[in-house]
Amino acid sequence: MRRIAVVPGSFDPVTLGHLDVIERAANLFDELHVLVVHNPDKGALLPIGQRVSLLERSISDAGLGGHIRVASWSVGLLVDYCTDVGATVLVKGIRSQVDVAYETPMAIVNRNLAHVETVFLLPDPAHAHVSSSLVRQVAALGGDVTPYVPPAVGEYLQPHTSVDLVPAAD
Ligand code: PNS
Repeated sequence: MRRIAVVPGSFDPVTLGHLDVIERAANLFDELHVLVVHNPDKGALLPIGQRVSLLERSISDAGLGGHIRVASWSVGLLVDYCTDVGATVLVKGIRSQVDVAYETPMAIVNRNLAHVETVFLLPDPAHAHVSSSLVRQVAALGGDVTPYVPPAVGEYLQPHTSVDLVPAAD
């Protein structure tokens, strides 16, 4: 039986912590979908298409396997995407107890909705302090984000000034 998993997130932008979790998940499953999900609770910086292309470049630059696909999802339940592609597992990275508290209710609801189990993976502790929101803030104020993001994201963000980094429409 082919094990298909989905790594969902806002990825606004993808960080080294995300990439670490993607690599660990790719080693565990036959097929991995990295899914950019529109999260209406968060103000977006990058348009979804840009997040997808930065993820694709970052995954390719890191030499990660050909069984990883990047897609986006903005309408309907996350588990609907899982059902569409035959995925039975969601993968989430856990940095701290705060992440556990945030993720646990969603994991239970997703299991109740569609029998999709959530697997929590621990990223390298070196990335425990890294988050997309921190990267967005540092970038918007003109700081160096390259220690926290894949090179493709660093290249994309560095030439932009705080004036360029206005919230995206989607
Ligand atoms: O990177 P983020 O912003 O922490 O990712 C959160 C995300 C997008 C994974 C989360 O908001 C989510 O799962 N959204 C899907 C909406 C959904 O299906 N909700 C109902 C069941 S929890």
